[in-house]
Amino acid sequence: MKARICVTRHYRFCAAHRLHTSALSDDVNRKVFGKCNNPNGHGHNYTVFVTVSGELDPQTGEVTDVRALDRLVNRKIVERFDHRHLNDDPAFQQLVTTGENLVKFIWDELVNHVPGGRLEKIGLIETRDNYFEYRQSVSPEHQSA
Ligand code: NI
Repeated sequence: MKARICVTRHYRFCAAHRLHTSALSDDVNRKVFGKCNNPNGHGHNYTVFVTVSGELDPQTGEVTDVRALDRLVNRKIVERFDHRHLNDDPAFQQLVTTGENLVKFIWDELVNHVPGGRLEKIGLIETRDNYFEYRQSVSPEHQSA
């Protein structure tokens, strides 16, 4: 089995959001989400960690094309969300803009487009105290691949 090497790149965007769902009453929204439900929303400086693994290419010494990865993440994630209100994004009309939903959305946007190698993990820092992580569970027959 060949060694796989992981590369992690960091990306940043600033965005506003409000934790709120129309499935619950205003009262229950306030109880569940607390100050994160304030009507005017609030902002975060998000950091996204994108980890890609691959086999070492002996010629380039790399496992993925990081320049192409940067273009991909900037186009699909950073430019989409930076200085926007996440609740206005079409993807979040039915989803609460939690870190959990956001990190899964970023995974789903990138997983089939990684330029070489395989997407291993998405990490998302929302606040000093909040970090979210999405990893796809690997079925046993694929673990030695
Ligand atoms: Ni928040």
